[in-house]
Amino acid sequence: MPSLKDVYVNCDVLENIPKPNRDNWLKEIDLLRLMLPKNARVLQVGSMDGARAIRLLEVRPDLKITGLEIEASLVELAKQKIAIAGLCVNFIHGDITNPPALPHFDYVICLNNTLGYIPEQDKSIAKMKELGKVIIISVYGEEFDNGLAQEYFKSINLKINCIKNDSFIMEDFTAIKRYSKKEVESWGGKIIKTPVGYFSIIPN
Ligand SMILES: C[S@@+](CC[C@H](N)C(=O)[O-])C[C@H]1O[C@@H](n2cnc3c(N)ncnc32)[C@H](O)[C@@H]1O
Repeated sequence: MPSLKDVYVNCDVLENIPKPNRDNWLKEIDLLRLMLPKNARVLQVGSMDGARAIRLLEVRPDLKITGLEIEASLVELAKQKIAIAGLCVNFIHGDITNPPALPHFDYVICLNNTLGYIPEQDKSIAKMKELGKVIIISVYGEEFDNGLAQEYFKSINLKINCIKNDSFIMEDFTAIKRYSKKEVESWGGKIIKTPVGYFSIIPN
């Protein structure tokens, strides 16, 4: 079984993942670059090894970013990477469904289909709403079809055991979800189409 750390770090190796997923990754960063107000306080849910926070700070050094991540080993890795990059992010170990004490943020962002990896989706969204004025959830949708999913998961060292509707059940790993437009619409936000999904901006 691959370690969680090995799998998640692969999500951000842009040269290894299929082009649509790479384009999606870059589009999310570009949307955030353009829309986040100056000096915004941002909480990233599922901050992984810090790769996205680093990319975002490179284009928006004014942002005050906190990363919340459930895997302790990834929090440590993110702290090392941010120090090497000479940037500043507060990486915290914790679970969005039962978060540690945190201040209130201007934005809570949950990128790259991270929500699809968390079984307790409604609870996660409710907690994000408690923590921020505006919530941004970016997920994979219909364009992430079964063919692209096979290619993408292979590139991050995951094997699909079976696909049930919009759930990819992995061998030796968790189930990962993709979203229909209807489901994303039910969150009530403004939706921007991305190369493989939806970027939903939900005011609170
Ligand atoms: C697919 S990765 C997302 C990658 C990263 N968010 C990005 O934008 O590239 C999902 C990340 O969310 C983390 N995660 C999963 N469940 C979580 C939870 N309940 N609370 C906080 N982080 C969680 C995982 O450990 C992993 O690092």
